[in-house]
Amino acid sequence: AVDRAIRPKRLGDYIGQQAVRDQLEIFVHAAKARSEALDHVLVFGPPGLGKTTLAHIIAHELGVNLRQTSGPVIDRPGDLAALLTNLEPGDVLFVDEIHRLSAVVEEVLYPAMEDQQIDIMVGEGPAARSIKLDLPPFTLVGATTRAGLLTSPLRDRFGIVQRLEYYSVTELTTIVNRSANLLALAIDEGGATEIARRARGTPRIANRLLRRVRDYAEVRADGHISQAVAAAAMDMLKVDNSGFDIQDRRLLLAILEKFDGGPVGVESLAAAIGEERGTIEDVIEPYLIQQGFLHRTPRGRMATRSAYAHFDRPAPPRIADPT
Ligand code: ADE
Repeated sequence: AVDRAIRPKRLGDYIGQQAVRDQLEIFVHAAKARSEALDHVLVFGPPGLGKTTLAHIIAHELGVNLRQTSGPVIDRPGDLAALLTNLEPGDVLFVDEIHRLSAVVEEVLYPAMEDQQIDIMVGEGPAARSIKLDLPPFTLVGATTRAGLLTSPLRDRFGIVQRLEYYSVTELTTIVNRSANLLALAIDEGGATEIARRARGTPRIANRLLRRVRDYAEVRADGHISQAVAAAAMDMLKVDNSGFDIQDRRLLLAILEKFDGGPVGVESLAAAIGEERGTIEDVIEPYLIQQGFLHRTPRGRMATRSAYAHFDRPAPPRIADPT
């Protein structure tokens, strides 16, 4: 879980994602100046990059309440109607994993987002009728790991769409230093950079590694997080020198050893390593693709030359360079 103490509360404390920050600053400022609710915001990107954090920041910057829920927990249309009718003017309703809303619940959202109205059915049988309820102006902030998982009527109703990208090592170093500072940890530049380098471009992972490295530093050293201590701690955690964890290595090795470098379909890969297809698609492979170790082709996933090199194996001549 993200620690309250280290989660940034203002846009100005949010590190990286420069384009997202620049745009939101303007849209939030403009909405506030007009005393309007901010337009609906869709935030997408791999897990751990700060989608929830951003929703909290948006509400905080707007000076409104944040109500939080998630797609799979809203069972029935009435559950969503209850949430919507209890909002105060201008509030933010944050729906995490919004791609997992059921179709009937999603239908309630369309008029809510577009016309600030909901149609709900009351009664049963011949006495059943639909009544319209007016809603206060509000901002829906939806988060999803992949925008492609949303239905187009839902996606089309967001006026602001922001994609979060993996963070650079420099940005993650700043995040690690900031967290260490808030937790009063002794860390030097070498230690912070080493953690940042192995954090898979992801603040949530950087902050988790920082806590585990601290444990190691306190038990096996004098508590100070140097480059050497950080490296030893992460070696122990099986996070390798490229920041790949056990899952990353299992996936890459399966392609090399069981599928001759690929191409291999995601379902075959999922069966081979005993992972959910969704975990491969949303969590594991986006980073490997971004780093140029994996290539997605119409016929399936292929290992790149970098993947062979990572495991000190000669690449067969047919292997394409990452594009
Ligand atoms: N924690 C999660 N995302 C962050 C970010 N972008 N900046 C600072 N801390 C964070």
